[in-house]
Amino acid sequence: MTVKIAPSILSADFARLGDEVKAIDTAGCDWVHIDVMDGHFVPNLTFGPPIIKAIRPWTAKTFDVHLMIEQAQPYIEDYAKAGADIITVHAEADRHIDRSLQLIRSLGKKAGLSLNPSTPENVLEYVLDRLDLILVMSVNPGFGGQSFIDSQLDKIARIRKMIGDRPIELEVDGGVTAANAHKVVAAGATALVAGSAVFKTSDYAGNIQAIRDSRP
Ligand code: DX5
Ligand code: ZN
Repeated sequence: MTVKIAPSILSADFARLGDEVKAIDTAGCDWVHIDVMDGHFVPNLTFGPPIIKAIRPWTAKTFDVHLMIEQAQPYIEDYAKAGADIITVHAEADRHIDRSLQLIRSLGKKAGLSLNPSTPENVLEYVLDRLDLILVMSVNPGFGGQSFIDSQLDKIARIRKMIGDRPIELEVDGGVTAANAHKVVAAGATALVAGSAVFKTSDYAGNIQAIRDSRP
């Protein structure tokens, strides 16, 4: 499976974050997924730009920054400067999605839009040409370790059709494991976020490979 694997450092040991980022790099991850939570859009608080800046020297891999922030626009530049490569905002948290996507690209970064499980895919229709990535949430955002919501498989397949031959990554986030990854890829995902499934044991390379090797 050539799908990209993006371990979420939400499940890493925060006391050793630099080492953990290096460890998933060595273990063969494609991207590093960074879950930014603001305590408003989601009921949890995580990483500010200084933490992203601090871990930036620990890997050359793509920093895939998932902003779960209410009205993220004023913070986008700070995350770009801190070392993000892909910056994803939430459709439900942004009154001016088109403007945010333009801002992200104007900073030389890849622009992503994320949809909560209950958000229909039609919100993507008029911004498709401004997108480098679409992030389908397969859990309600806020916490790691939740179960995959199966209704999202249909949504992933529909978005796959909407994308057509545009060069847009289709990433899926939440509850992805070696047991269900094959279904998510069959529906059309090109990138998988995995937090607990990668960090559950110290064998990060084996855990990443198990997701890549997922079969029915
Ligand atoms: C949830 C986050 C996810 C989460 C994934 O709000 O966006 O990235 O950490 O964790 P798992 O893979 O454990 O569901
Ligand atoms: Zn995420």
